[in-house]
Amino acid sequence: MNILAIETSCDETAAAVVQHGRIVRSNIVASQIALHEKYGGIVPELASRRHITALVPVLREALETAQTPPEDLDAIAVTEGPGLAGSLLVGVNAAKAIALAWRKPLLPVNHLEGHVYANWLLSPDATDTSEPAFPAVCLIVSGGHTELLLIHKHGVYEVLGRTLDDAAGEAFDKGARILGLGYPGGPAIQRAAEGGRPIEHFPRAWLGDSYDFSFSGLKTALLRACEQYRKQEAPSRSGRKPKKATPATPFPEHIPPQYSPNMPVADLAASYQEAVVDVLVEKTVRAALEQHARCVMVTGGVAANALLRRRLGAKLNLPLHIPEMQYCTDNAAMIAAAAYQVMRRGAAAGWDLDARPQFPWSALPGVRVIEHTRA
Ligand code: KG4
Ligand code: ZN
Repeated sequence: MNILAIETSCDETAAAVVQHGRIVRSNIVASQIALHEKYGGIVPELASRRHITALVPVLREALETAQTPPEDLDAIAVTEGPGLAGSLLVGVNAAKAIALAWRKPLLPVNHLEGHVYANWLLSPDATDTSEPAFPAVCLIVSGGHTELLLIHKHGVYEVLGRTLDDAAGEAFDKGARILGLGYPGGPAIQRAAEGGRPIEHFPRAWLGDSYDFSFSGLKTALLRACEQYRKQEAPSRSGRKPKKATPATPFPEHIPPQYSPNMPVADLAASYQEAVVDVLVEKTVRAALEQHARCVMVTGGVAANALLRRRLGAKLNLPLHIPEMQYCTDNAAMIAAAAYQVMRRGAAAGWDLDARPQFPWSALPGVRVIEHTRA
């Protein structure tokens, strides 16, 4: 049972072959970080154009590495959404063409369900092949999403909470821009924080006893803290007023750090990282206890964060599953793993499959989703 999967929902062009929904035969990712770096964030049109040129070489490499000829493939899977429309369209169209030419079923995958099933992936030489036990609490933390789920069993998802504004990865990316640390922000803040101490106690949005998250106030607190340093330092340096910081990017938070040479960037990065991680850990641990989970999974790009991994490991008395680093950030192996479930549910797509930039859990066919409505 081999699935070839394609993922182009954001800024990674990816293809993979996965056997039985778990064993990764190949996993090829062409990152666009260098392309978007100078803009301080993803530029959607550039992303979709790059997918067009990158996808065929990536697909070829995925098939060659897996050494799986077309006749040994059982299905073609693709990310249907959520994501950037122009980026999704490239993958959807390519998957349709391959499925049509090779006469294979076409499996549509929700990107977030892909992140969940990254926890089922195994490299071919893996020795521990145990699966996460249900019910499981799953924290999805990426550049576009922050969701806390209770997964009762395959295909039954309870959305305990989600972000009300910025996603955790977005908070890292915006924080890094404010500190002048570059893109992507998560790894940059983590690196900077290693050389600093959390000197500032930034606000945490606990939002009562809800499992929801909010990070926009934190970003504003960082911005204010940086402004204080700028106010203290800028006029005294040359006696002249500092040049106005002209944003070099379409992102207004980008203020070049050279206007505040004494700003303790490493300490601010450590304080900021501490505040994001604190809330993620507290809510996940509480959910695991209150919901009587048998394990906890963390997935998505922010799951690569070392402090988050360390803290969760220390605070949980349950098995903690975090995918290997290459499966935390966007990749196609996780799409193949989720496609295996889509196939089991009998939810193959027709030729009218379209990209779905907004794709809520509740729209997943063949799945039971329990949503909690809040005031
Ligand atoms: O899952 P992903 O690759 O793409 C989306 O689906 O969004 O996640 C990318 C996000 C970015 O916001 C990036 O800053 C964040 O994951 N990230 C990290 C780390 N590595 C990547 N955040 C915190 N610490 C990291 N080490
Ligand atoms: Zn993602």
